[in-house]
Amino acid sequence: MSKFKNIKVITKKELDKFVNSLIKNEKYDVIGVKEKGIRFAFGSIESADELRLDYDVTILPPKKYFLPQIEKLMDFNLEKNFDFKKQNNQKPMIIFGIHPYDIIALQQTDKLYLDQQVDDFYKKRRDSSIIVGVDIQKVSEKSFAASMNTHITDSGFDLLLTNIGDYYTVTIGTEKGEKLLNEYAKTKPATISEIKKIDEVRKKTAKKFTKVLKIKKEQWSNVLAANYNHPIWEKRSQKCMECSSCTMVCPTCYCYDVHDDVSLDLKKGERYRTWDGCLIRDFTKIGSGEVFRDDVEKRYRHRFYRKGNYLPERYGFVACVGCGRCGIACLPDIASPCDVINDLSHFERSDVTDKFFIKYSSSVKEKGIIHIPRSATIKRMEQLTKTEMFFEIELDNGEPLGHMPGQFVEVSIFGVGEAPISVSSGPNDSSSFELVVRKVGDVTGRLFKMKPGEKIGIRGPFGNGFDVKSFENKNILLSAGGLGIVPMRSLIEYVLEPNNRKNYKDITILYGAKEPSLILFPEEFKDWSKVDDVKCELTVDKCAEGDCWMGCTGLITTLYPKIKLDKYDSENTIAVIIGPPIVYNFIIKCLQTLGIPDKNIYVSLERRMKCGVGKCGHCQINGVYVCKEGPVFNYKDVKNLPEAFE
Ligand SMILES: Cc1cc2nc3c(=O)[nH]c(=O)nc-3n(C[C@H](O)[C@H](O)[C@H](O)COP(=O)(O)OP(=O)(O)OC[C@H]3O[C@@H](n4cnc5c(N)ncnc54)[C@H](O)[C@@H]3O)c2cc1C
Ligand code: SF4
Ligand code: SF4
Ligand code: FES
Repeated sequence: MSKFKNIKVITKKELDKFVNSLIKNEKYDVIGVKEKGIRFAFGSIESADELRLDYDVTILPPKKYFLPQIEKLMDFNLEKNFDFKKQNNQKPMIIFGIHPYDIIALQQTDKLYLDQQVDDFYKKRRDSSIIVGVDIQKVSEKSFAASMNTHITDSGFDLLLTNIGDYYTVTIGTEKGEKLLNEYAKTKPATISEIKKIDEVRKKTAKKFTKVLKIKKEQWSNVLAANYNHPIWEKRSQKCMECSSCTMVCPTCYCYDVHDDVSLDLKKGERYRTWDGCLIRDFTKIGSGEVFRDDVEKRYRHRFYRKGNYLPERYGFVACVGCGRCGIACLPDIASPCDVINDLSHFERSDVTDKFFIKYSSSVKEKGIIHIPRSATIKRMEQLTKTEMFFEIELDNGEPLGHMPGQFVEVSIFGVGEAPISVSSGPNDSSSFELVVRKVGDVTGRLFKMKPGEKIGIRGPFGNGFDVKSFENKNILLSAGGLGIVPMRSLIEYVLEPNNRKNYKDITILYGAKEPSLILFPEEFKDWSKVDDVKCELTVDKCAEGDCWMGCTGLITTLYPKIKLDKYDSENTIAVIIGPPIVYNFIIKCLQTLGIPDKNIYVSLERRMKCGVGKCGHCQINGVYVCKEGPVFNYKDVKNLPEAFE
């Protein structure tokens, strides 16, 4: 029997009147399920006649009202130096006819979007909306919601309708729902026998599901943990067309991209976020050209692990509600988690389910509202190499950035976009900080063309940075490859700062550049080596003809045989590596040869990033968000993460 005491009944005629009076009132956008050809879709309704509460499943879930497919974040004026207006309009919505599985999917989205980093845009929509759910009357043949126990819900709605024959019962979930009902509808209290009918209807519906899971949803994580390298991924993904329709129609997929649009007269523009999908190859592509999930097999697998292992380990729920939409949308019919899990259910299960996830606590949060940059001024620029430019930036509010070595900011240029860039200067109390930018594309290319005095936007600092306290009283061995010297410089400045130097023992800095003309901060490198007990070694991969270079030539790995550590030293040495993805495995081998334990090795990993706060999904290494739990990781924690060093 229903746990709700406050249940009413409403005749079908009165329900129509209720809907029509809300439409007439114009206080709310009234949304409901309508016919669309032979299928159904949520849309604005102009009359109760349009509303179909007996549908099987809608083409898209109602998430489109809370995380629109294309959502304007802000308008900006390109004629002024830094001028924008956050998107604020939100007319209250009433959404009629949401099935329980979609209500549960919204509750899951709340967990992610309203966590410690609240997404203001999403929250405003959720707060100003009223959810009128409806119990399922007709079951979609691809849905397996009953196996997921998501065909019913006892929370997440303001009102819930159940068709009990001549009447609908209205279960009141919130005060907001009750108020609406009292104001606009004519109902009477439900009798005990009417309330009993709710359970009867639900039981009957549960029996109508023909698609059934062979194992409980609580076991998905165990099955997936044991079958990461199962041939099923290769076999099924061979048919994948990489269209990402499965993620687009899914109520529990919420990854997004952010981009700018500019008017034809180049005077104004808008920043948007749009749905994105992890099945698309460029989803993980970064500036140096690497694509972290290059094979379709890996991207195909990622979607199932995200739903059945990564999010369950993080939040405690399976991120699939069994709606069956992916099964309908996928032309080669390979997208349904029900089919995949059923196929895998005959194979091994693992008791250790958290091997793709790190339980780091993270306090990363935007300063201010998510996605809204702070105004900053370029104070100084200096071209360091043909592709790298140095920037001194000052926050216009006069406050210090407040960063730790290893953290990064999102640099924002209206009309072009945003790029994550490491802070290169050490922490300090001034409002200035330093960046070094390599020109690879739109944002970085535009930064190169800017002049001192011009404004940019800054979000952050983001990421965890180095736990410099835990490095105290240890020798420090720093290895930087290429652009890795940029974030490493922030750590070097910190440990060499006269007040801090005494806290660290011998410091060794190894730096490998491609060629002499690409060496960054050569003068500072010389200065660092003059500090007591600091040893610096520099090498270039190759020396072009005509280049004057008297130093070491060879890959950075050629520098390690010069280091002599006894057992005591190795165990008391902290090693840090920052470089392009290709160098990590080689350097780690060198460090292990020196006897440095894995727990003493720290790496800073680069991934594609958009939000910086664990929402957009781009930076994920298996179940780990690099923007939040990284980019700095202890090697012992990530060495067994399959995607970390592939
Ligand atoms: C934590 C972190 C710290 C970084 N620090 C620095 C730094 O100190 N200096 C520096 O020059 N670069 C740094 N990068 C790389 C830099 O973010 C990218 O080169 C930049 O985003 C490219 O943007 P773009 O608009 O110029 O290029 P685009 O025109 O967008 O694209 C050019 C190439 O860059 C890739 N790319 C696009 N967006 C991103 C993104 N958000 N993250 C990574 N690659 C992307 C594209 O897939 C494409 O291959 C860092 C990246 C991360 C994740
Ligand atoms: S699994 Fe199906 S829907 Fe998803 S990307 Fe591949 S072909 Fe498209
Ligand atoms: S994975 Fe498929 S069945 Fe599961 S919630 Fe998403 S669209 Fe529905
Ligand atoms: S989740 Fe968006 S950058 Fe990490």
